[in-house]
Amino acid sequence: THRIIIDTDPGVDDALAIMLALASEKIEVQALVSVAGNVTVEQTAQNACRILELAGRTDIPVYAGCARPMGHTGVNARHIHGVTGMDGPDLPPPTMPVQTQHGVDYLIAAIRTAPPDSLSLVMLGPMTNLAVALLKAPDIAQRLHRVIAMGGAWSEGGNITPTAEFNFYADPEAADIVLRAGTALTLLPLDVTHQCLSTPERLARLHALPGRCAAAAVAMLDRAGQFDIAKYGWAGAPLHDPCTLACLIAPDLFAGRKVNVTIALHDALTRGMSVVDWWGTTKRPVNAMFMRQVDADGFYDLLARHLGRLP
Ligand code: BDR
Ligand code: CA
Repeated sequence: THRIIIDTDPGVDDALAIMLALASEKIEVQALVSVAGNVTVEQTAQNACRILELAGRTDIPVYAGCARPMGHTGVNARHIHGVTGMDGPDLPPPTMPVQTQHGVDYLIAAIRTAPPDSLSLVMLGPMTNLAVALLKAPDIAQRLHRVIAMGGAWSEGGNITPTAEFNFYADPEAADIVLRAGTALTLLPLDVTHQCLSTPERLARLHALPGRCAAAAVAMLDRAGQFDIAKYGWAGAPLHDPCTLACLIAPDLFAGRKVNVTIALHDALTRGMSVVDWWGTTKRPVNAMFMRQVDADGFYDLLARHLGRLP
């Protein structure tokens, strides 16, 4: 089993990723840490609590992390995820508390007290929390077993600018710090997530599932998906964040290459872009496993099987 902390900005696809983690017998979720991204950090913490309550897992603590990115402000994704970040289902306000310790301090303490190589971090939003944690406590980079993150884009171009993917664009300095930190990093970029389209057939299978979690998941997907379908003109909306959990649970669904990934910081046209040395044209050190391929049918099959297990 994989013991993980999920750093997240729910977020419709974040919500599905968290549900996938909760449903897997191979995953043990130690805590959720929220970050500003799709919506504010207060709202993402509340949304994390709402998902845990829906799933009956209020034993998992929720921490709120950074309210602002390190060097870039003013971007959110309410245009996709709605004003609450999880528009669609009618979920009551949460009653479980958000922990009082700051999410960054929690991350440092949790990573330092875990036995070496026993704890992994799954990142579903801007990388602010881990970057700040690495600045405060550089030793944690070597203590983490793995970091599995949704972020970046190479052959697909960007989704928030022509060149940049949302999570990296929302805090390019943070992504840069994480990519230089020497963690065992796996990236699930748009190259992969744009292959995971929620087509009507795949959504119909999710609609047929029993349980309130699956019902909330499809209510969110049905609403948020409309924006992407109109934007891309594809048969369905891409599903991003759950790819990280699927990659942990069923790694054989994904294929990629260990490469150097460098974040563009200084030019307005490319800010937040992940520049991938796919062909090894530089001598820059390998710093990430960059996924490019996915078995999308296998991914949706895994998602449906897991969502069907939740209450
Ligand atoms: C990422 O942006 C966010 O809106 C999603 O939750 C996902 O993490 C995709 O670019
Ligand atoms: Ca997200």
